[in-house]
This record gives sequence, C-alpha cells and structure tokens, in this order.
Amino acid sequence: MDRQVFQEKFGLLGESDAIRQVVDKIMQVSGTDITVMLQGESGVGKDVTARAIHAMSKRSRKDIVIVNCGAIPEGIIESELFGHEKGSFTGAHEARKGYFEKADGGTIFLDEIGDTPKNIQVKLLRVLESGEFFRVGSSKLSTVDVRVIAATNRDLWELVKDGSFREDLYYRLDTVKIKLPPLRDRQEDIIPIFRKFVTEFSSKYDSVFQGFSDEAKELLVSYRWPGNVRELRNVAEQLVVLEKSQFIDKDRLQKYLKGRQFLGSTDNLPVLSKSEREQHFENESSSADMGIIYRALVEMRTDISDLKKMLAKFLYSTIADKNIKALPGATPRNIDPNDISSHLRKQMDDSSLGIRSVDSFDDVDDNDKENDDIESFFREKEIPSIEDAEKFLIEQALKRFDGNRRKASEALGVSERTLYRKLDQYGLQ
Ligand SMILES: Nc1ncnc2c1ncn2[C@@H]1O[C@H](COP(=O)(O)OP(=O)(O)O)[C@@H](O)[C@H]1O
Ligand SMILES: [Mg+2]
Repeated sequence: MDRQVFQEKFGLLGESDAIRQVVDKIMQVSGTDITVMLQGESGVGKDVTARAIHAMSKRSRKDIVIVNCGAIPEGIIESELFGHEKGSFTGAHEARKGYFEKADGGTIFLDEIGDTPKNIQVKLLRVLESGEFFRVGSSKLSTVDVRVIAATNRDLWELVKDGSFREDLYYRLDTVKIKLPPLRDRQEDIIPIFRKFVTEFSSKYDSVFQGFSDEAKELLVSYRWPGNVRELRNVAEQLVVLEKSQFIDKDRLQKYLKGRQFLGSTDNLPVLSKSEREQHFENESSSADMGIIYRALVEMRTDISDLKKMLAKFLYSTIADKNIKALPGATPRNIDPNDISSHLRKQMDDSSLGIRSVDSFDDVDDNDKENDDIESFFREKEIPSIEDAEKFLIEQALKRFDGNRRKASEALGVSERTLYRKLDQYGLQ
C-alpha cells in the first residue's frame, strides 16, 4: 500500500520525517508476527498505530484486544488477562476467558505495559515466549496464538534499572521498537494535521471554518502541546464548535490554549540568565532533571484537570439530582468545574467524602447504592490512580444511565467520542 493511502486510511497523518519513518516501519512489520513495542507520550498515536498494524496484518479477520495494563486493579489483573475457572475465587461464579484467549488468532495490544505488576510480568513472559498460560484456578496448561503489540509512555529501561520491570521481559519486548515523537518535536506536522481535523469537524458539525491569522498559526506551531495530537484534535473541535464562523486570530486561539499553555509551555517560564541559572541549578544534569520533573508534572496536571472536570461534573449531577441547592448562579450545563471542585472540596472537608453527610441524601433511592459505591471506592483505595478513578467514574455514569453513552458522556462532560475511546482503552463494554 502506498504510504499516503495508508496514512489516510488509518488516520495517521503527518509529513515529517519522523512520521514517514513510523509509517514505513508499520508497513514493514505488519505482515509478520513479530512483537512490536510502541513508545511515546500520551496522545502521540500509539493506539492508532497498534490498530493500523493489526488491520494491515493477516490477523485482521480476528479481533485486536486492547488491554490497559496500568488500569486494571492488581487483584484481578491475572484473571482478566488469563481467565479463570468457576469457583477459583469468591465471586467466580462462571469460568471466564481472559484477554489472551479472546485475542486468539488475532492481536493483543498491551497498553501501559510498564505498569504491569511484577508477579504478572513473569506470566506475560511465558505467554509471549510460548503462547502458554494457566487460567486462574486451573492446573491445565492452555495455549494461544496471538500477536503482541505493547506500548508505554515511560522509559522501560529505567524501570528495569529501578527493579520494577523484569529485564527478561524487557528484552523479549524489545524486538521492534517504534518511537512516536511528541508533536512539539515535529512542528511541521501541526498545521497539516490541524487542517484535517478542522475539515473533519466542520463537516461533522455543519460549520464553516473561516481560517486563521498568521499569528494564530505561529502560536499553534510554537505551543508545546503537552497532550500531543489528542489535544490538537480537541482544540480543533472546540474552535469549530465554539467559534463557529469566526476568523481565528491569536487572541481567540489563545483562549483555548491559555491555561494549558502556561502549564505546558516552557516558553512562558521566565528566562534565566546564566548566573541565575547557576544559582538555581548546581550543574547541568540537575537542570536536565528539573526539566524532566517539570514535564512530568505538567503532564500529570493535564490529566488531573481532565479528571477533576469529570469528577466535578459527575458529582455535581449526583448532587443536582438530589435537589440540593446548587452553586449560586450555576446551572448544570453552565458551570465552571473549578468552582464546583472548590465547592466539593469544602464538602469533602466537612465529612469523609461529603456525599452521605448531606441531609437530603438520607432518603433512600437508587442513587444511594451509587453513593455507597463511590464512597467505598475511595475508601478502599485511599487515593486511587487517575486511571482507576476515571474508569470508575465512567462505569458509574454508564450504570446510572443504563448504558446510554450519550447521556453518560454528557454527565461526565466529555465528548461521546472521548467516552468511546476511553471505553476502548479500559476494555469496558
Ligand atoms: N498522526 C496522527 N494523525 C491524526 N490523528 C492522530 C495522530 N496521532 C494521534 N491522533 C489522534 O489523536 C488521538 C490520540 O491518539 P492515540 O492513538 O489514542 O494516542 P496514544 O495511544 O498515544 O495516547 C486520537 O484521536 C487519534 O486519532
Ligand atoms: Mg493510548
């Protein structure tokens, strides 16, 4: 297949050398069964790449099963991956296939593989080497034929060095590595990809995009895009929807980047003179470390702020359902998540989680079960990981709206598309 046709077909856009090399590599490996390791920050296109490899392979008639190894609670990851026999643990009423069996004949995509608990890593190694595994509670050896694609946004070798990732598994996965560079390192891709997104959203929302100024263009290119292509896509969607039929100048664009630009952009950090720098950092390596720490913090902040919005929206609608007086002047559709979270924080300060202590929660109805779930989730996990919390919220929202994804996504304050992606990412049905 021609490279351009391939890129259009699988939505892996970009004309930079980096992307060309990625595409060439995908085309080289997709016909084989070789294990592929995808490396890159969040939002650079690891999922897209994994799907493209599968779709181009002879396994495409069968499924690609996507597993987020970091999002599955440690207690159930073994049975999720390898299945279990009936009665093998409390609650195992039926025998169940694991993800590896579901992927038999197809591809398994092990996302965030660096987060796999160590006791599971040894079992992964075995299934990768020989296709062999045991269901939980079974002494019968099972075998599968799967192609493995793994992904990580971390430096796996660092994890090997600090002892949290097995070296033998590292080498087993290190056969073909595809590095997806962050968007800021391939600036020439930004405008072409942005144009594609704008065209796509304009036709989806039946809106006409009036173009943007040179300064706005420069800003798009120089912005650091901590959320990479995912963020670029979101910004394009927001502009098309919220700035319908407006010419996009720098100020208009800035609104959609501002908060995040400040967080994400080292351009906005004060430039230090050499002596100031020396005062701040004793030597070069610590300043490089600072950069890494700073970047990590920024990425974490972006994730947390998304999660905060989801949590705030979701808890808000729970509270609104309970006819509790809402924030002054706020309506469920027009609220500042930051206001809500401070409001909620206050409530949380007032009680364990502030949910049950509010008077009108005392009348019993369906939502009480939900509140119990929320409470026990947080209590059990103390501080859950962002991904666990996100997954949990999504499950709660779907439960509440009887699986209606449109309503669930509205309650969570994310687009339906994002919800679909997350369902996929977390392997939720
Ligand atoms: N090169 C690209 N061209 C077009 N869209 C892309 C590209 N890379 C990523 N995307 C889009 O960005 C979003 C995030 O991509 P995804 O593959 O889920 O990233 P990751 O798995 O690395 O976090 C998706 O909507 C995807 O379609
Ligand atoms: Mg992903």
